[in-house]
Amino acid sequence: MMPNTNLAVSTLSTDYRKPARSTLVNGKPAVLPIRRAEASVPKVRLQNVSLSYATESDSELLALDQINLNVKAGEFLCIVGPSGCGKSTLLHLIAALQRPTSGSIAIDDQEVTTPGTDRILIFQEHGLFPWLTVGQNVEFGMKMKGLAKIEREEKMRYYLRLVHLSQFESSRPHQLSGGMRQRVALARALATEPDVLLMDEPFAALDAQTRDMLHDELERIWAETGRTIIFVTHNVREAVRLGDRVALMSFRPGRVKQEFLVDLPRPRHLEEVEVARTAREILDSLREEINRSLEAEYAHDPR
Ligand SMILES: Nc1ncnc2c1ncn2[C@@H]1O[C@H](COP(=O)(O)OP(=O)(O)OP(=O)(O)O)[C@@H](O)[C@H]1O
Ligand SMILES: [Mg+2]
Repeated sequence: MMPNTNLAVSTLSTDYRKPARSTLVNGKPAVLPIRRAEASVPKVRLQNVSLSYATESDSELLALDQINLNVKAGEFLCIVGPSGCGKSTLLHLIAALQRPTSGSIAIDDQEVTTPGTDRILIFQEHGLFPWLTVGQNVEFGMKMKGLAKIEREEKMRYYLRLVHLSQFESSRPHQLSGGMRQRVALARALATEPDVLLMDEPFAALDAQTRDMLHDELERIWAETGRTIIFVTHNVREAVRLGDRVALMSFRPGRVKQEFLVDLPRPRHLEEVEVARTAREILDSLREEINRSLEAEYAHDPR
């Protein structure tokens, strides 16, 4: 097979649907993701979102500054940025676990002010209840939603099948490996059938093989269910492996510094040359922000 030497990533300006420079695939203009219907209203829209935290010295820390971001229905958006740039804060705001200091966040054009079952946040620590079985853990969110027992059980079995854990329905979390627990957390989140899945470095603590397998499964489930995913990661290659688009955030105050449209065919693999090459391009830009964050850290550390 001929190596694919075509441009696979576009740096985006204001409208992510219009690449700032044209991309070519096999000599033809690149086709932007077409599997999904182009909705006029974004699934998630952040407008001029800023957030300040009060600090102990009575001053304010501007964590997020004027974030503008649109996410299409069914899009897989990855967010990368140096530690402390506000990635988790951004997910918390979309989940409405926190309120912005200014600006607005809307799902399907409806401003979000309270947590809702249309959005679900998956943390790096899976947060399963150790005293419940795997099946009961998956049922938990549905129970909170008020679903009847029979419907809960049916969905619980469906989603456990989807993450290949049917046999472990009656096990307790401590009887599973880390990767299996993360899959239970994924099944539990999916079972509530949220429109938007917010994932905060969900695979960071896993070994490489388990992470590879979960990438495959997440991509398959995403393709099957049509969910919108916003996925935070430190790993640029992971972002390119999974995302339709990668948003790069700047060091404090967190802003969307640059967006990259990843125009590589799926399924992708972490080790693919094109994935690595695209990741390198993004990494060059990320490195500047990491250096800024290190400089800020050293400035406060006289050693
Ligand atoms: N509850 C809080 N009170 C005060 N400051 C906070 C609080 N939570 C976060 N911050 C500050 O806001 C900034 C952004 O934090 P956040 O956790 O969103 O970063 P992050 O990009 O997720 O970092 P990491 O990659 O390390 O997870 C940091 O400077 C952090 O110190
Ligand atoms: Mg974080």
